[in-house]
Amino acid sequence: MKRKKNNYKIVLIIFIVVTIALFAEIGYLVFYKKDNEKSINNKEVNNQEVTDSNIDNNDNNIDNDIKDEPSNEEDEIINLLKQEEYYIENNLDRYLSYKALNPEKTNKEIITDVNCNIDKDFYTDIENSDLDKGILVIVNKYHALSSNYIPNLTTMENSYTSVAGAKMEVEAYEHFKEMVDAAKLEDIKLFNVSAYRSYATQDTLYTNYVKRDGVDGADRYSARPGHSEHQTGLASDINTASSKAHFENTKEYSWLISNSYKYGFILRYPENKEYLTGYKFEPWHYRYVGVEVATYIHEHNITYDEYYAYFIEK
Ligand code: DAL
Ligand code: ZN
Repeated sequence: MKRKKNNYKIVLIIFIVVTIALFAEIGYLVFYKKDNEKSINNKEVNNQEVTDSNIDNNDNNIDNDIKDEPSNEEDEIINLLKQEEYYIENNLDRYLSYKALNPEKTNKEIITDVNCNIDKDFYTDIENSDLDKGILVIVNKYHALSSNYIPNLTTMENSYTSVAGAKMEVEAYEHFKEMVDAAKLEDIKLFNVSAYRSYATQDTLYTNYVKRDGVDGADRYSARPGHSEHQTGLASDINTASSKAHFENTKEYSWLISNSYKYGFILRYPENKEYLTGYKFEPWHYRYVGVEVATYIHEHNITYDEYYAYFIEK
């Protein structure tokens, strides 16, 4: 009887223990695990959010980068262009267009070319030469004189010209004489072979050259009427006007290159500048611009087209 009672007790204890264990397990599953999952889920959600928001941020950055890139890049290009020596604010749009079309060119080349109008074909967008500029007037393939323009001329004395009755602009002639006289003291013989040419004379010359060499050929060495510096009276072809003479190999040429600026004359169509001036190298063609301007051009090795764009026209 006592043993039966003990057995009963043991069964009861086991039942209680199992029941407690069962409740504990249920409690664990229902509360702890659920909470845990919740927190894990939350963490995942949070992580996901963090990741997504990073992606969003990155996307935003990428978007910004894409949106900003052209303007940042353009700002950078503009900053670099502005640092160039002869940058002209009014030409900015043209610099940018020309640079886009010519990515291989340096910024210095972009500035120089556009300042000289090389982004436009020769003989397009032609303006009237501004006569108010006096001895600094520009005449080139983009600037023309009217057919009736005649400068203030004087007739050259025979000792300064091989062509009797040649005419030159008054101020230019005074300086021309000084230059020739100074050269003479150093045994350098200089004389004019062609100074002032009227519109009509230039027309005849150019027309004949076109008959001989065609328009493209003639355009490389002869100005169209209205576009010749000779019509200003400020230019002189010295000693020759023929490339066959190879004036560039003479001591007279060397003297002019070293000294002409002191008298206000510049070599107007230098070697390797045909793409800017529009004309082949003319070692004989000198243009009077005054001593100060000629000195600057001599010291900085630039063409008059470059000088005019930056210092006179701007
Ligand atoms: N030979 C120069 C360019 C002129 O014709 O004026
Ligand atoms: Zn000439």
